[in-house]
Amino acid sequence: MPRDENFLKANNARHLWHPMAHPADSQANPPTIVTGAQGVRITDIDGHEVVDGVGGLWNVNLGYSCEPVKAAITAQLDALPYYSIFRGTSNDKVIELAEELKDFFAPDGLTRAFYTSGGGDSVETALRLARQYHKIRGEAGRIKFLSLKKGYHGTHFGGASVNGNANFRTAYEPLLPGCHHITAPYPYRNPFNESDPAKLAQLILAELEDEIAFQGAGTIAAFIMEPILGAGGVIPPHESFMPGVAEICRRNGILLIADEVITAFGRTGAWTGSRLWGVQPDMMSTAKAITNGYFPFGAVMIADHVAEVFEKDETGKAAIGHGYTYSGHPVGAAAALACLAETRRLKVNENAAARGAELFAGVQALHAKYDVVGDVRGGHGLMIALELVSDRATKAAPPKSVPGQVQKVAYDAGAMVRVSGPNVILSPSLVLTSADVQTILTALDAGLKSV
Ligand SMILES: Cc1ncc(COP(=O)(O)O)c(C=O)c1O
Repeated sequence: MPRDENFLKANNARHLWHPMAHPADSQANPPTIVTGAQGVRITDIDGHEVVDGVGGLWNVNLGYSCEPVKAAITAQLDALPYYSIFRGTSNDKVIELAEELKDFFAPDGLTRAFYTSGGGDSVETALRLARQYHKIRGEAGRIKFLSLKKGYHGTHFGGASVNGNANFRTAYEPLLPGCHHITAPYPYRNPFNESDPAKLAQLILAELEDEIAFQGAGTIAAFIMEPILGAGGVIPPHESFMPGVAEICRRNGILLIADEVITAFGRTGAWTGSRLWGVQPDMMSTAKAITNGYFPFGAVMIADHVAEVFEKDETGKAAIGHGYTYSGHPVGAAAALACLAETRRLKVNENAAARGAELFAGVQALHAKYDVVGDVRGGHGLMIALELVSDRATKAAPPKSVPGQVQKVAYDAGAMVRVSGPNVILSPSLVLTSADVQTILTALDAGLKSV
């Protein structure tokens, strides 16, 4: 029996816990109930329609009305709604998709896919395969992982262990041993007190060399980083940073895992974040926009030279003891095939770059207009953040209520934006128009004016 509005509002957050929220807070301040979406807009239970400045959760790159992806999902449900691809069986869609992914990621030097059910699974897969890679090669001592403070790699135990934000760690410790973090390339705040992005990049690269020497290169399996840090507050490193990391990793026999759960498929204006910086990683974790968010799915992409180590193994050590029931789900693969075709056809990377430049210019104007905006970050496609402060001179964080108030007023004024700590994060669909950009900016202006 369909339930009415009163029932839904009365039971909102009562018998379910929300990710990334305090259960009591969700009960005291019930979440917005979203009941519909069209194009780049969402509609709530009260019929209020807004531009979705969040793009689902950095994943609905093609908007909510992407008919080819919907049609592919429907057709696949009729043809083959599920079958496993564990040893001994495959399906037509995963084979076809691997060929498409191989072509799409060829410029990144990545030619093999391992399918997952989402971003956290992709990170976990990459970390596990990195350790196995070294074991196959006879370097079983390479077990540690390096990563960046402020990096976000999901909340599985492996991902949380390389995660660089205490919010996702402290309550769940102890985490995986052997995970070590270096300074984030975050000019606004860093222990070097260095605001020049290029100089900061060099300092952190020196820190990385120092950490590797301290740990011993022969104990380290992989370094994992986002090409542009996303959930940690949109932190684009200087252009010299990721190439520098890649060079140091290569020189020390450490695999470089690019976590592109957000950045793959055009969000930065380039097709991948690695390509944006001219880096070829050894593995890449992807998910989110691979199906436009319509089906939980992901893929770890693997470089030729890493694949070769596994494929040429004759000892049995390369047998993969890893995978998920939904690895290679045919409906997810069908969705990804349609999504990839549409992503390329629409050249959404180009629109991401153009609309991203407009949105960032608007956000910079808000920075100039409101003292509560301490820093703005972006400049690479449609991933932009405003960091709010209570005092520009001390950079003190604002009271917790301030970002929430900005979000609420912006929502009433026509745009959903996301708040994470002191940051207001913008990650809209890549099919946004200039008019949609203005709607987000006008709504944000109203939100900032109110605090
Ligand atoms: C860079 C990155 N890695 C991993 C994840 C985790 O993905 P999921 O939430 O699908 O497990 C996210 C999610 O936002 C992410 O941004």
